[in-house]
Amino acid sequence: MINQNIRKVPSIIAIVLLAFLQSCYYDNVEDLYPSPPSCDTTNVSYSDEVWPVISSNCTGCHSGGAPSGNVSLENYDDIVRAANNGSLLGTIKHENGWSPMPKGGGKLPDCDIAKIESWVNAGTKDN
Ligand code: HEC
Repeated sequence: MINQNIRKVPSIIAIVLLAFLQSCYYDNVEDLYPSPPSCDTTNVSYSDEVWPVISSNCTGCHSGGAPSGNVSLENYDDIVRAANNGSLLGTIKHENGWSPMPKGGGKLPDCDIAKIESWVNAGTKDN
């Protein structure tokens, strides 16, 4: 009887060990493939979301007395004008026929472009 129980010990150890090793293979999908930060393009606000992007990426060249390309983007009216003639989205989306903007810099982050596009499509609200 004692002998029989002793012979079971190695297999019990093996089972415990296996269970332990198994836990090492537990991978969390969220940790392996973190979902990209979400981009909320609903009700985009001009003052909170559009203006900050334009002012930090565009007005360095597109403001003042002699703006680049003779295009000023220093206030709401200027930006709406560019939105309405297609140049705003054409340039930031690097579409054919438009000079890609910001000039000499990388394309804006996808989320910023998506938000500006949503703002234009929703009617360039001054909100
Ligand atoms: C480093 C300077 C610089 C920056 C920054 C810059 N631009 Fe320009 N932009 C220019 C110049 C110069 C032109 C004239 C066309 C050319 O030389 O490509 C121009 C032209 C344009 C035009 C007219 C394009 C056309 O094809 O008629 C628009 C619209 C424009 N820029 C929008 C923007 C926007 C929006 C941003 C920010 C995302 C921006 N620009 C950032 C220099 C700049």
